[in-house]
Amino acid sequence: MADNGFEPIIITYCCYWCSYTGADLAGTSRLQYPHNIRIIRVQCSGMVHPNLVIDALTNGADGVLMCGCHEGDCHYREGNLRAKARADAISLMLEDFNLEPERYRLEWVSASEGPRFAQVVTEMVEQVKKVGPSPYK
Ligand code: FES
Repeated sequence: MADNGFEPIIITYCCYWCSYTGADLAGTSRLQYPHNIRIIRVQCSGMVHPNLVIDALTNGADGVLMCGCHEGDCHYREGNLRAKARADAISLMLEDFNLEPERYRLEWVSASEGPRFAQVVTEMVEQVKKVGPSPYK
């Protein structure tokens, strides 16, 4: 379902050690990306429980983007691998809640990847625009 003029709200979790710095770099480099994201800084992507993703999507967010360190770079050793395993659980939960899989995305963004952060955000906003507002709005 496409909605003309629809501007999604995307909750974006960024781990402190890599992705948040990558997001900051995108900002300080003045890279253009859509304004639809609301960044929440967390210590590690592995610390975000799937319930938080579902809570966001059933309470006003249209999508959730999870950004963590690249594999092998997590400052808590295997936190991002936990986030990766949780992504499978999250996709099953999305089904249970009748939410499209496009509403959740997990990406690795390092501290030096400001352009990648901007690109991932742009793609996420586009993919959520295509599925339309969360039915829970
Ligand atoms: Fe970045 Fe764990 S510290 S994903």
